[in-house]
Amino acid sequence: MSNALHPENPPAGTATGGVPSVPAHPSAVRYHAVGKAEEVLRFEEIALPALGEGDAVLVLETAVIHPSDLGMIAGTYGRLRELPAVAGREGVGRVAAVGAGVSNVKPGDRVRMPEDAGVWREALVAPAADLRVVPADLPATQAAMAFINPPTALLLLQEFVALRAGDWLVQNAANSAVGECVIQLAKARGVRTANLVRSVEKHGARLKALGADIVVADDKDAAKTIAGEIAALGGKAPRLALNSIGGMSAITLTRALGQDGVLVTFGGMTGDAIRFPTREFIFKNITYRGFWMDRWARTSPPAAVDAAFAQIYAHLRDGSLTVAVDSVFPLAKFTEAIARAGAYGRDGKVLLNGPAA
Ligand SMILES: NC(=O)c1ccc[n+]([C@@H]2O[C@H](COP(=O)([O-])OP(=O)(O)OC[C@H]3O[C@@H](n4cnc5c(N)ncnc54)[C@H](OP(=O)(O)O)[C@@H]3O)[C@@H](O)[C@H]2O)c1
Repeated sequence: MSNALHPENPPAGTATGGVPSVPAHPSAVRYHAVGKAEEVLRFEEIALPALGEGDAVLVLETAVIHPSDLGMIAGTYGRLRELPAVAGREGVGRVAAVGAGVSNVKPGDRVRMPEDAGVWREALVAPAADLRVVPADLPATQAAMAFINPPTALLLLQEFVALRAGDWLVQNAANSAVGECVIQLAKARGVRTANLVRSVEKHGARLKALGADIVVADDKDAAKTIAGEIAALGGKAPRLALNSIGGMSAITLTRALGQDGVLVTFGGMTGDAIRFPTREFIFKNITYRGFWMDRWARTSPPAAVDAAFAQIYAHLRDGSLTVAVDSVFPLAKFTEAIARAGAYGRDGKVLLNGPAA
C-alpha cells in the first residue's frame, strides 16, 4: 500500500481534465505468454503509430483491475487476446488529438479506453469511430468503473426475473463490486436484498448503509438464517439468486430461493463447480442460468448498450450508486496494485492512474 494514492487525494499537479499531452515514450503493461500475472507482466515501451485519417490519440486517465483481467492473463477467461497483448479491460482516457475527418470526438473529451486493445497502457492510437464519449462531470474513478460491474448488476436485476418493488433477491459475494452495485440498484427500485458475505463483522455495517436489508455469514446455516430474517421482515422467499462464488455457496443460494426461483451464475470466485441440491432443484422447480456481460454487450443492439450505460451514468451522477475504491496506484506500480487487488480485506476496487489522471 505504500505506493498507493488515496482515492480522495490525487497527487499535487494532477490535471483535472483538459487536453493531455502524449508521453514521448509511452509504456504499457504487456504479456508475451499466458500465466500468473506476477510472472508474465512487463512494463514495456510501446510504439504509437502515426495519427491517421479517422484516428484519435488517447492518453490513459484511470483503469481498473478485475478478477477477469487476471483470468485473461492466465489464459482461463472466456475470450483471450492475441499475444503479445496489453492487459486490462476497463478504464477511461482523454483524447489528446484527432486525425482528419474525425467529428464524433474532440481533444479533451473523456472516452472509454477501447477494451480489445488492452487498457493498461499510457497511450493508444485508435479508430475514432469506435470511441464512446463518457461524461466528464463524473469523478474519473467512477467513470473508469462504469462499463463492466455496474451494468452487470443492472442487467442481472432486469434480464432474468421481472422483479417488483417488495420482491426479494439473494446474492453471495455481496461485498464484491458487482454485489454492492446490486444492493444499491435494487434499493433504488424498492427490491429487497439478502446478502451473503464471508465476514459480516467486516462488511455488515457498510452494506446496510448502502441499502442491504439482510447481511448473513455465508456458512452452512445461511439459508435458514435468511428465511428467518426475511419472514421477520414480512417478506417472501427470494425469486432471484445471484451467484459469483460456486460450490457450497451456490447450494445455499438454491436453498434460499422460493418456488420457481431463478439462480443466475456470473462468476466463480472459488473455482469450484456450481453445485445444486437435488431436492430443492426438483421440488421448487429452480432454473439455473448464466450471464456474461461481454456476450451481452457484443450481441445486443448498440442502442440497448448505450441505454444501459446511460442508466449507470445517471445513477452515478445522482449519488444512488457509488463504486467503492480501495486504492489508486500509478500504472508503473502495477505489480503492487495487483498484489493489493488479490489481498483479503480490501475495501473496493484497485485502480491504476495513467498520465491523464
Ligand atoms: N459474467 C460477467 O459478465 C461478469 C461481470 C462482472 C464481474 N463478474 C464476476 O463477478 C465476480 C465479482 O467481480 P467483482 O469485480 O465485483 O469482484 P471484486 O470486487 O474483486 O470482489 C471479489 C469478491 O469475491 C469474493 N471472493 C474472492 N475469493 C473468494 C473465495 N475463494 N471464496 C469466496 N469468496 C471469494 C470476495 O470476498 P472477500 O472480500 O471475502 O475476499 C469478494 O466479495 C467475479 O467472479 C467476476 O469475474 C462477471
